[in-house]
Amino acid sequence: MDMKVPFYRHDLDESYADRVGEVLASPFLTSGGVAKAVEAQLCTFFDVPHAVLVNSWTNGTVAVLLALGVGPGDEVIAPAMTFIASANVAELVGAKPVFVDVEPDTLMPTPETVRAAVTANTRAVIPVHLYGQMCDVAALRATLADRPDIAIVEDCAHAFEASLDGDLPGAHSDAAVFSFYATKNVTCGEGGAIITRDPQLYEAVLQTRLHGMSAGAIDRFARSKYRHWDMTRLGTKANLPDLLANLLPPQIATIRDRLPLREERARRYEKAFSGNAIRLASTVPGAVHARHLFPIHVPASVRDDALGALNERGIGTTVNFRSVPTLTYYCEKYGYGADDFPVSHEWGAGTISLPLYPSMTADEQDYVIDAVHECVVPMI
Ligand SMILES: Cc1ncc(COP(=O)(O)O)c(C=O)c1O
Repeated sequence: MDMKVPFYRHDLDESYADRVGEVLASPFLTSGGVAKAVEAQLCTFFDVPHAVLVNSWTNGTVAVLLALGVGPGDEVIAPAMTFIASANVAELVGAKPVFVDVEPDTLMPTPETVRAAVTANTRAVIPVHLYGQMCDVAALRATLADRPDIAIVEDCAHAFEASLDGDLPGAHSDAAVFSFYATKNVTCGEGGAIITRDPQLYEAVLQTRLHGMSAGAIDRFARSKYRHWDMTRLGTKANLPDLLANLLPPQIATIRDRLPLREERARRYEKAFSGNAIRLASTVPGAVHARHLFPIHVPASVRDDALGALNERGIGTTVNFRSVPTLTYYCEKYGYGADDFPVSHEWGAGTISLPLYPSMTADEQDYVIDAVHECVVPMI
């Protein structure tokens, strides 16, 4: 029987329309009381003193880098195996992204690999918690103990509900940044959040996420008398409106309860694909994996045909990710080639992400598994 299995299906039912309606019925549409309440919810969830909602991971991380004073002449270390945004943010503030290769099993860099890329100009490292499991930020911090001038900014776009050895995102970094993009485990279409334990960084980010203004709209009108604002540093426009922020509270409240649904589906895939020519990313001991994406790896020579065959069967797939330094912009600007980051290049040339979400039914998953066995495995 033919069916269609989309790559992603969100869980936001009609009750979320009511939540948008609640904000529409109020006079304040942009970042106000709702956003502040969600920021408090995030502080509790991650056990951190400060959280700031933003309109994307990308803009939030630009705000963090601006707040840290990262700019021209500075270097920011990021893995070659990630989404382009993890490196683009360095470019956007005028700094240089310095790529590091990843381990073939976890697809994440080790602290030692990062350390080897550090120079006198390094100002920040962006460890990416790829696909939903966390890299070892505590070990990274220890490796950089002699360089307190290097900020660690975690890319938690895939890892909202993840932990490693009991540590949540934000436990060992200067800041951790999340994405609430349309396909993320917690979503409001577009959005994100920054968490930090550093009060100075928090104060600076409040400004760099809003043009560099000293007071947001809600604060300017908070008292009967108008408060003038000043601008003492340059910022971007990264605040999240209440209209979108109000979609987040029920999702944050239930995300840990929904994780077993992702875990069960991921394990089902792992069982189905173990023992044949398909390669899988390994799971890190001690990790609670957020199971954001489920990538498989096939030889590069068959990857695009495999994507086509699955697509023909009505199965939504995507590629997460082609190695960032091999993309035209980075090749042309910095002269990188496929040999520079071989593990990332090889994984990126052969990876395919399969559908994975809590509402995927067993029948849908069986359909995907059968299609991989029938169409993809024989190609290898
Ligand atoms: C690893 C990673 N980092 C950053 C981002 C960027 O997130 P946003 O679209 O919220 O800017 C993404 C988005 O998919 C991502 O996968």
